[in-house]
Amino acid sequence: MLLEKIKLSLMEKLTGLKKIKTAVFISGTGSNLKNLIKFSKIKKAPISIDLIASNTQLAKGLKYADQFKIKKKIFNFKNFKDAEKNLLTLLTKEKIKFICLAGFMKILSKNFIKKFNGKIINIHPSLLPKYKGLNTHTRAINNKDEFAGCTVHYVTAKLDSGKTILQKKIKITARDNPFTLAKKVLEQEHKIYPAAIMRIFN
Ligand code: GRF
Repeated sequence: MLLEKIKLSLMEKLTGLKKIKTAVFISGTGSNLKNLIKFSKIKKAPISIDLIASNTQLAKGLKYADQFKIKKKIFNFKNFKDAEKNLLTLLTKEKIKFICLAGFMKILSKNFIKKFNGKIINIHPSLLPKYKGLNTHTRAINNKDEFAGCTVHYVTAKLDSGKTILQKKIKITARDNPFTLAKKVLEQEHKIYPAAIMRIFN
């Protein structure tokens, strides 16, 4: 954290820019993306969202690129190697220094993650280390868990396993189903993702 602060102030001095150029990777609705864009516009926010990347043009969240006038780019991950190579080229060109995964459904390679070591974070809809992967809410309900929640964590080569930055726990009620629970958890995601970013850089 101290290192991040030193780097940030050094960067401010070198570039005159206050905010860290950030890319958000999405595959779906993009509610976290929209929330991060809004957060980034607050004066005290340490990041600016300068690029939105997706593995599919069907990602509804891409509309926020147009709405907020942010550069967007779709990468075809059918050829995984080429997609990551092109993505890395664009990230370098756009001087992106930080990456937020927000409902991005591709697993990035070890090599890619190494290039952005400690600079990629993700939000996951469970209380990690519980329920890595998909269908987290169904699994929590089926297991009769008392609590569900969400976690912001660093991305490492091992799926959903990097160090936790922030986590929020919510109670599962008898009336909850995977949809109601997803809605409740998503509300919390929108709170902890910006809070986690503040925690990293402040
Ligand atoms: C969120 O629940 C996030 O935790 C998970 O995918 C969902 C994305 O939602 N990784 P949205 O696209 O941000 O609305």
